[in-house]
Amino acid sequence: MRNNIVHPGADELTYEIREIVEAGRELEKKGIRMHWENIGDPVAKGVTIPEWIKNIVSDIITNDDSSYGYSPTKGLLEARQFISDLRKKESGVTLDPEDILFFNGLGDAISIIYTYLNRGSRVIGPNPAYPTHSSAEGAHAGSRHITYRLKHHRNWLPDVEDIRNKVKYNPSVAGILIINPDNPTGMVYPKRILEEIVNIAREFDLFLISDEIYANISYGAERMVPLYEVIGNDVPAIVMRGLSKEVPWPGARCGWIEVYNKKTDPIFARYIKSLVDAKTLEVCSTTLPQKALPKIMSDARYHPYLKEKALEYHKRADAAYRIFKEVDGITALRPEGAFYMSVVFEDSVLNKSQSLPIANQEAKEYIEHVITDVSLDKQFAYYLMAGAGFCVVPLSGFNSDLYGFRITLLEANTEMFEENLRTIAQKIKEYLRS
Ligand SMILES: Cc1ncc(COP(=O)(O)O)c(C=O)c1O
Repeated sequence: MRNNIVHPGADELTYEIREIVEAGRELEKKGIRMHWENIGDPVAKGVTIPEWIKNIVSDIITNDDSSYGYSPTKGLLEARQFISDLRKKESGVTLDPEDILFFNGLGDAISIIYTYLNRGSRVIGPNPAYPTHSSAEGAHAGSRHITYRLKHHRNWLPDVEDIRNKVKYNPSVAGILIINPDNPTGMVYPKRILEEIVNIAREFDLFLISDEIYANISYGAERMVPLYEVIGNDVPAIVMRGLSKEVPWPGARCGWIEVYNKKTDPIFARYIKSLVDAKTLEVCSTTLPQKALPKIMSDARYHPYLKEKALEYHKRADAAYRIFKEVDGITALRPEGAFYMSVVFEDSVLNKSQSLPIANQEAKEYIEHVITDVSLDKQFAYYLMAGAGFCVVPLSGFNSDLYGFRITLLEANTEMFEENLRTIAQKIKEYLRS
């Protein structure tokens, strides 16, 4: 090439959640039957969409030709007005429909948000980190994503002191990312913690991003508190919501951002304008889900449906907690939201010489070849795939310095779910003993 056409942040783009699939597929070709515990797609895991939701969508497709057309850049006014009214009704919060911007899923929103952030400005995010955020933020800056610790011995709560110190000593940090409920830990943050983070943002003149795509999937003792309930009327913030997980409808590619306290800071307002301008160049986001959103969310069956789903995840979270509690050498906290659980290997229980028996000779050779230069938790994950047929995501794939792995709570068949976890628990024991 005449010039180097590679973006300086290209090396930051990694997505272990899908990358591990390549190894899994190879193993499938060699005859291993795989349980895919890596992807957070409820539909792929067999969640059935209620008939009434399908009827709403099919009625729009059949009777409303405008659902095949473009929508306004920011999104359909009827959808943005609905969200604005909902915030007022549920939390007494004022959100101008003009401060809502639709995207083709939050993946698209995340990409645009970091791409149009000034190169020198950083957003600090949680560790373990959801790779779409950490990769996009790292790529924008051309260096590794800056993170704050989630404390796995303290209910995965954000280490507020760590945030404060990193913000204080790193003047390039302009924003703090919160993921609540969190992926990959499944934790829901208490109001007190959110308030402390808001105070740091206030003190250091930062903006906040709160990814709340799992807002309606929470089942802990405390209510999930949306960021807009604690930011007051001064701290600039972006709240991210979407349809992928709760309807669930990830294939609709529909997510949106809600911008709060835009007018309190002209630089923040200019930055938000750049996001709208960037979206204008793309024309608009998917129209059909925006048409369906107010109809689905205002339906009397929606809240009972969300409650029923949350109860299912709650039961599975309890079962997973019960099963992993019995295993020495790991910490596995009971999730309170979303549909993930992170299992952490305690310090120094993993080493390079551990393995699991692999009956299939071809699979054994393949795994022994690919583990040569991988992190210790990835080595465990590879052995778990080849030796037991379970694909989980190693925590090191979440930018984490902890070793562990993430499982999902999506398996709908209760017996199979518990059976799978018991097998994984047994394999952990065997691996640590090996
Ligand atoms: C925390 C978080 N944010 C955003 C997304 C992306 O969602 P979408 O389907 O809207 O792109 C996911 C998907 O797993 C997620 O876990």
